[in-house]
Amino acid sequence: MDILHHVAELRSRRRTWQSQGHSVALVPTMGHLHPGHLALVHHARTLADRVVVSIFVNPLQFDRADDLAAYPRTLAQDCRLLAEANVDLVFAPAEDALYPAGRDQVTRVEVPGLSDLLEGAHRPGHFSGVTTVVCKLFNLIQPDVAVFGEKDFQQLLLIRRMVADLDLPVSIQGLPTVREADGLALSSRNVYLTPQERALAPALYQTLCELAEGLQADGGDPDGLARHAEKTLEKRGLRPDYVAVRRRQDLLPPQPGDTQWVILAAAWLGRARLIDNLCLDLP
Ligand code: PAJ
Repeated sequence: MDILHHVAELRSRRRTWQSQGHSVALVPTMGHLHPGHLALVHHARTLADRVVVSIFVNPLQFDRADDLAAYPRTLAQDCRLLAEANVDLVFAPAEDALYPAGRDQVTRVEVPGLSDLLEGAHRPGHFSGVTTVVCKLFNLIQPDVAVFGEKDFQQLLLIRRMVADLDLPVSIQGLPTVREADGLALSSRNVYLTPQERALAPALYQTLCELAEGLQADGGDPDGLARHAEKTLEKRGLRPDYVAVRRRQDLLPPQPGDTQWVILAAAWLGRARLIDNLCLDLP
């Protein structure tokens, strides 16, 4: 497995693979890899001749300087895991390799509307940072296919929209969320949880499951049930940013006749901000 840090060597490798007729799958990450990331990597391995994993803690998508500074960086350990997973190439650029003119000067890729809802409303500029860096990675690596997790449901939807709107020649694959045995979604940010907070953390997924049961049972007032779920989270020791019941295709409130729903939530627990979601099909 090769580890490349510079754009020129990456482009040169891509050209070689092109001339050899190899297809390429990309898994973009910010590192501190866990089994959720590795599930994406294993799936990518089945999709193409060559697998590239990018590791880049993208400053453009952090809305708080303290979050960016504290984000766990474990490149050596990540590379060991990726070598075991039979990855061909890790692309781990420094900030100035991707943003040579400075992070404030870069041309942005924006998906209007969808990027202002939910996570976007609570983290201004976050999704513009995500779509900008993912578009750059697609242009640099030119993957045939790229794999993302449903854990970041809104991010996955935004990337699909960007690819469709900009006619990017890449197929986007989404994979289900990998969870701990007690239901907590794996996340690089779970390292911020103290043992006491870790014991409370499964309440997020548990509350989403209960909300889904409530919606299945009476189908009734999604907003009322979502507000109730926020109160339940508070009682269970979390501080919710939001719980929302939306339709899957565009994350707008479900209309009569919509049957494919998703429940999305974000909540603070100590200094960790947890997000999760649950898809739900109504009859
Ligand atoms: P990061 O949080 O490192 O996540 C990288 C990929 O792993 C994303 O597609 C994410 O949805 C997926 N993932 C994270 N936890 C998961 C879990 N428990 N189960 C399954 N998949 C999981 O998301 C980002 O990085 C960045 O925004 C990025 C797309 C790399 C752009 O900077």
